[in-house]
Amino acid sequence: MKQDSVPVRTNILFVCLGNICRSPMAEGLMRHMVKQSGLHDRIALDSAGLGSWHIGHPPDERAVETLSIRGVEISDLRARQISVDDFEKFDLILAMDRSNRQALAKLAPKDLGHKVHLLMEYAPNLGVHEIPDPYFGGRKGFDYVAQLIETACRGVLHNFVAKPHLNPTSRNTSSLKEE
Ligand code: 4NP
Repeated sequence: MKQDSVPVRTNILFVCLGNICRSPMAEGLMRHMVKQSGLHDRIALDSAGLGSWHIGHPPDERAVETLSIRGVEISDLRARQISVDDFEKFDLILAMDRSNRQALAKLAPKDLGHKVHLLMEYAPNLGVHEIPDPYFGGRKGFDYVAQLIETACRGVLHNFVAKPHLNPTSRNTSSLKEE
């Protein structure tokens, strides 16, 4: 019998409150790194928000500009709200702050809560555990958030490369965006 030739992918979802600042920045920065590493057929990425206020909206202009300076384009992303199905579809669900993580833990179906982690767990050397919400601040806040996200996403990628046996895997990629 012919073997299934679909490569096994790890599906990663970034989650914040509105899906217009932090999580689309994380999706864009991580997508950029994944492409540069040639791992685009091994890692699928998406982002979502816990709230519904910004469904269908592009990322905040300050987030777009902050990443554009770094050569990363995210203006084509559109906000969506997380759904219960996401806990099945994704292997790793990365929350930006503890409040996001708590809300995700409440939403998670039984036995799938283990997929939820803080993104900053992947940058232990920084000693920063949460990515602060930059929405009500200025551009400087977005720069700081971009630095935190970039460091943590490098950690996610490093973990993927260094410890492939620990990476959750899934073939359920049909509804995920291509990198
Ligand atoms: P995000 O930032 O969670 O990083 O996308 C926010 C964006 C909008 C709102 C809150 C946080 N809001 O209340 O509309």
